[in-house]
Amino acid sequence: MRVTINELKEMKQHGEKIPMLTAYDYVTAKLVDEAGIPLILVGDSLGMVILGYESTIPVTMVEMLHHTKAVVKGTKRALVVGDMPFMTYHASVADALRNAARFIQQGGAQAVKLEGGERMAEIVKRIVECGIPVMGHIGLTPQSAYQLGGFKVQGKTPEAASQLLNDARALEQAGAFAIVLELVPAPLAKIITQRISVPTIGIGAGPFCDGQVQVISDLLGLYTEFVPKHAKQYAKLADIIRAAVADYLTEVRGGSFPTKRESYTMDESLLEGLIDEAS
Ligand code: KIV
Repeated sequence: MRVTINELKEMKQHGEKIPMLTAYDYVTAKLVDEAGIPLILVGDSLGMVILGYESTIPVTMVEMLHHTKAVVKGTKRALVVGDMPFMTYHASVADALRNAARFIQQGGAQAVKLEGGERMAEIVKRIVECGIPVMGHIGLTPQSAYQLGGFKVQGKTPEAASQLLNDARALEQAGAFAIVLELVPAPLAKIITQRISVPTIGIGAGPFCDGQVQVISDLLGLYTEFVPKHAKQYAKLADIIRAAVADYLTEVRGGSFPTKRESYTMDESLLEGLIDEAS
């Protein structure tokens, strides 16, 4: 049985922290699930860390569904959230409902995430009314980075802080089951967390949120082109991969790989005819 949105709400009520990670493929999702992470996001960050795009803007529904299916296959216990890509929920309610449904029906996810606060509340409400759990995302919303003037910490003026609180309340009212706070000053994230009943999941939002989310490629030290201040590398997989590939290269070039151990044998007398042919 997978983790439910009610269990996540109970975790907040009991003061139990909620660890969340992104995953984009079967193998990684399986490891993350087996480690006991209750909430997995197939983030549109895959545009950068998997597909090599410069931002999340070019990511499509087809790409998201492809990766969501793999993550769902790799997991048994975690609740899997599919991240709705840029412009798949803005143009009309009908678009938003259709695309949210695709994550559940075709991708196998148990919930969707979308960016935006008050201005997205009606869309969130309509998706929730269809029976699809929605996770909100406010603060720095990467799909609006051009509008926000880049990847900056949000809510730093009294007006902006108050707007973020309103955004969180609007999403709570609309029925969101949790809200990601990205790049929000820790004291403000604390106030928002105290004022709403649904769990806040922070990324670059300090220690007072109900949960934390990290991009797995940052956590594993796999994506090294840009390491944000709020990311902590729990491993340095890029170094391990570089060293392993360099060793392989040297051994293939030098003829020391493969050895007998990595080779298959057969009764060589059966090859006599071929050996005669060759000589
Ligand atoms: O796409 C993503 O990985 C995200 C997280 C940073 C919350 O939205």
